[in-house]
Amino acid sequence: MIHLDHKNSANSRISHSYVNSIGQSLASSTNVIRRRPARSILGSFLFALYVYFFLYQGVTRSESRQEQPLQPQLDEIPSRIWQIFFGYTPLSDFAPALQTWISNNQDYSYTLMSDQGANEFARKHYADRPDILGPFLQLEFHVLRSDLLRYMILESEGGIYSDLDTVVQKSVRDWIPQEMRSKVHAVVGVEYDQLDGEPYYGMNERIQFCQWTMAASRGHPIMKKVVKKVVAALNETVERDNISIADFQPSDDEVIQVSGPVIWTHAVMEAMSEATGTEMSYLNVTGMTEARLFGDVLVLPIDGFGAGQPHSNSTRDENQGAGDFYVRHQWKGSWKHGWNG
Ligand SMILES: *[C@@H]1O[C@H](CO)[C@@H](O)[C@H](O)[C@H]1NC(C)=O
Ligand SMILES: *[C@@H]1O[C@H](CO)[C@@H](O)[C@H](O)[C@H]1NC(C)=O
Ligand SMILES: *[C@@H]1O[C@H](CO)[C@@H](O)[C@H](O)[C@H]1NC(C)=O
Ligand SMILES: *[C@@H]1O[C@H](CO)[C@@H](O)[C@H](O)[C@H]1NC(C)=O
Repeated sequence: MIHLDHKNSANSRISHSYVNSIGQSLASSTNVIRRRPARSILGSFLFALYVYFFLYQGVTRSESRQEQPLQPQLDEIPSRIWQIFFGYTPLSDFAPALQTWISNNQDYSYTLMSDQGANEFARKHYADRPDILGPFLQLEFHVLRSDLLRYMILESEGGIYSDLDTVVQKSVRDWIPQEMRSKVHAVVGVEYDQLDGEPYYGMNERIQFCQWTMAASRGHPIMKKVVKKVVAALNETVERDNISIADFQPSDDEVIQVSGPVIWTHAVMEAMSEATGTEMSYLNVTGMTEARLFGDVLVLPIDGFGAGQPHSNSTRDENQGAGDFYVRHQWKGSWKHGWNG
């Protein structure tokens, strides 16, 4: 098969080969022409046509391979569940919710990551990326730390992350329909959908994806993007305020922008735009009532992770249509974002 570096040489090579093969096959058949001219000419023509298509297809295949950015092949989402517990409230507050993750997913591995464990994890996985490791280790504000850590965990190990105040109602294995499993490398849920109403208090974008629950294959572009974005936003904010990362005490709004749903939503949209080769925005997602695959990202409608909210047309009564509620957020993180409390 032909291997070429760029289009121009490809084209010139094609026409060269084309002329050559016609010339050669005509020349080699000249001695037969006298005997069976019509058949030989037809034969040569068909042969040339065959060579042309063979070469042409070979060239277009290797060209398209070269034009696509090198995207490492991702594995399936691993059977690992991750939660973070920094110890600011008693773990027993979360015990019933936590138990749902273990009992509904007994063939999954489960990790509850502590504050200390987080630093060890970061040192191990980001040793060669000081631009990320440095800011992470300096970060003291635990909401930001917890946000950044979940993205780092899924970037470097993959699996399912969920906040401690969530209840899983459907085994993680059943989130992705069987026939889609090899194609899905990330699962995100809608947190907020403005639909055709007024913006809901505290919401910044017309569509927001939730970051209390998420799943991804190791090394997924969404996680790579969001980790880089959070570190950049953090840097920009502390530079602007002329403070150190350790001294950063963000407002609720800054949390949402720097590490929370806003920056998360931007990363998801960008990754889905790249994966689909289209310009993705809230328009592609608003009003969804069924899960939809965008590239390799499975987007769950509002009820997937966000049922029971007073907006976004989410189902308030969980006894209705129960099959579609995967995770329920219990909003115990009122310490986190003031307006939830
Ligand atoms: C922000 O990034 C710049 C450029 O990488 C770096 O020089 C600076 O030290 C960073 N600021 C903080 C507070 O980390
Ligand atoms: C930034 O803060 C330091 C002290 O922490 C101060 O010396 C310096 O003047 C400040 N820079 C600006 C531009 O405010
Ligand atoms: C997303 O919506 C835009 C129009 O807003 C459309 O051009 C694009 O094809 C859509 N992408 C997908 C993957 O449906
Ligand atoms: C809200 O959900 C109901 C029931 O599923 C549906 O009939 C209605 O069209 C939805 N409203 C919007 C604005 O999507």
